[in-house]
Amino acid sequence: MKRVWWKDKIAYQIYPKSFLDTNGDGIGDLQGIISKLDYLKELGIDLIWLSPIYKSPFIDQGYDIADYYAIAEEFGTMEDFDELLAETKKRDMYLIMDLVINHCSDQHEWFQKALKDPEGEYGKYFYIREGKDGNLPSNYRSYFGGSCWEPIPGTNKYYFHMFAKEQPDLNWENPKLRQELYNMINWWLEKGLAGFRIDAIINIKKDVNFPDFEPDGRDNLASCWKMVESVEGVGEFLDDLKKHTFQKYDAFTVGEVFNIKEGQLENFIGDDGYFSTIFDFSAHCLSDGGHGWYDAPKPDFKSWRKAIIDSQLKVQECGFEANIIENHDEPRGVSRFLPVYAQNPAGAKMLGTVNVLLWGIPFLYQGQEIGMENAEWNSLDEFDDISTKDQYQVARAAGLSEKEALEVCARMSRDNARTPMQWSKEAFAGFTTKTPWLKVNENYKRINVASQEQDRNSVLNYYRRLLALRKSSEYKEVLTYGKFVPEYEETETIMAYYRVTEEKRMLIIANFGAEEEKVTLSYPCKKMVLSNEENWEAHESELGTVLNLKSCQTVVLECE
Ligand code: GLC
Ligand code: CA
Repeated sequence: MKRVWWKDKIAYQIYPKSFLDTNGDGIGDLQGIISKLDYLKELGIDLIWLSPIYKSPFIDQGYDIADYYAIAEEFGTMEDFDELLAETKKRDMYLIMDLVINHCSDQHEWFQKALKDPEGEYGKYFYIREGKDGNLPSNYRSYFGGSCWEPIPGTNKYYFHMFAKEQPDLNWENPKLRQELYNMINWWLEKGLAGFRIDAIINIKKDVNFPDFEPDGRDNLASCWKMVESVEGVGEFLDDLKKHTFQKYDAFTVGEVFNIKEGQLENFIGDDGYFSTIFDFSAHCLSDGGHGWYDAPKPDFKSWRKAIIDSQLKVQECGFEANIIENHDEPRGVSRFLPVYAQNPAGAKMLGTVNVLLWGIPFLYQGQEIGMENAEWNSLDEFDDISTKDQYQVARAAGLSEKEALEVCARMSRDNARTPMQWSKEAFAGFTTKTPWLKVNENYKRINVASQEQDRNSVLNYYRRLLALRKSSEYKEVLTYGKFVPEYEETETIMAYYRVTEEKRMLIIANFGAEEEKVTLSYPCKKMVLSNEENWEAHESELGTVLNLKSCQTVVLECE
C-alpha cells in the first residue's frame, strides 16, 4: 500500500452556516472560520472540509449550487475565501471544499437556459424526457420525497432530479457538460485547494432508459436508489473525472459513496482508485429504515461493533476509509451510538477514542470535540431541513401521530448536527449576537468550548490529547499504518482492537457496558498512553495482566 501525503492527517468538517457568525446576521461566515483556525490547529487538525460555500438559493443548504465560481454572499466574498486559503497554508493546514456535481440548482444559468429551450444545447446538460402514455417518464421517488420528474412549463416534457425539484441532475453522458465541470474543478485546484469532498457521486450514472421498478411505498413510487443499484458503468465516469482533474494535482478526494457493489472497493480506494478515500458509513447504515426514518432501527452495541469490525477488516486489505461518528446529514453520534447511561463526557471520550484510532483517516465534525448532542425539538416549525419536513410527512402517512412523527424527526433529523456551534455560555452560545438561522441547542450552558477550555478533563482537552497521541512521533507510525486486529469480540460490552506493526502493538479498549468489566490482557501492558479516567497516570502502576474497566472507561495501552 502506497504511503501518500494525506494518510497521517486528521480532518475536520465545518458546516459554515453554523460555525461562527462575525457580522451579526445569524449566519456563520468565512471570517468566522478564519478567526478559529488557531483553535483548530491547537486541536490537532490538519485538513478542513468546508460544506458548500458557493452561491446558492439554499433550498438544500448550499448543496444546490447556482454558480460554481462564486462564493455565497451570506458567507462572504472571494477575497475572504482567498484569505482563508492563505491563512490555512500559513498554518500548514489543507483546505478542501465540497464538490456537488451530481446536480446543480435550478437557479444555475445552465438550467435557466435549458428551461427556455429544452431541445437546445443546455437542454442536453440535463435529463429531459417526455411522459410515457400520459404518465411520468418513470415511477421513481426522489430522496427528498415526491417524483423524480418535474414538468417543464409550457411543454410535454419533464426534467429529472434525484434530490429536491430545485436540484436538477446534470447529464454526465454529455461530454460537454463533463468538460465544463472539469474546467471548474481545475480552476479551484489551481487556486491552491488541496482537494474535495465529493457529494452524492455514486448517483451520476443513470440508466438513461429510466425503466420502472416495483413500487415500494404508499405513494406507489419506487426509490430512485433502485436505479442506481441496477445500473453499471459509474466507474468509467469516475475514472475520467480523476484523470482530467484530481490526478494532475495530487489532490485529496473523499467520496460520499454508499453501497459499493461486491468486489469493487479496490477500484474506489485502492492505490489507483477513483478517490483517495470514501467515508465509512457502515455504522450509520444500521439505522436505514425500510421506508423512512419512522421505521429506522436503533442500532445496539453488538451490531454497531460488528459493523465497524467487519468494515475495518475489509477496508485495510485495499486502502483507507474516512472514519466518522457524525456529519451534517446525521444525528449527533453521542446521542445515537451511546446507550443512555453513557451519554456523558466519559462516553463521548470513549466513542471518540474508538473512532479516531481506527484504521483510516479520522474526520471530526464540528462540535464533536466538545461532545455536542442532539437538540430537543418541540415542533416541526423549529426544523429547517428539507429532508426532515419530508420524513415528517412520510411518518404521518404511515399512521404515526403528530407527536410520534415529531419524535422520529427529533431522533433522526439532520438539523441535530446543524444547530450552531457552542462556543460559550454567552447569549446564542457565542455563535452570533442576533437570532441564529437555526435554534441553538438548549444545553449550550453545559456544553461549550469556553468552559471546556478551563477544565483539564473536559471532552475538548481529551480530544486534544487523543489527536496528539495519534500524531506523536512515537505512535504515529503504528496508529496510521498498523494493522487493525479485533479483540474481545465475544464479550458483551467491550469494544477493542489492536493496531500492530512489527515494532509496536497498541490496544485500544473501551467498556460500553453499564457495569465494571474485567478482561485478561493477552499481551502484558508496557505503558498506558491514554485514558478517560481522571488522574489516570496514578493508575498506570496498578496495571497487571487483568484490566478492570469501569463503565464508559477507555484506555489505550502499548503492549509487550
Ligand atoms: C449529500 C449531502 C447532503 C445533500 C445531498 C444532496 O448527501 O451530504 O447534505 O442533501 O447530498 O446534495
Ligand atoms: Ca454572518
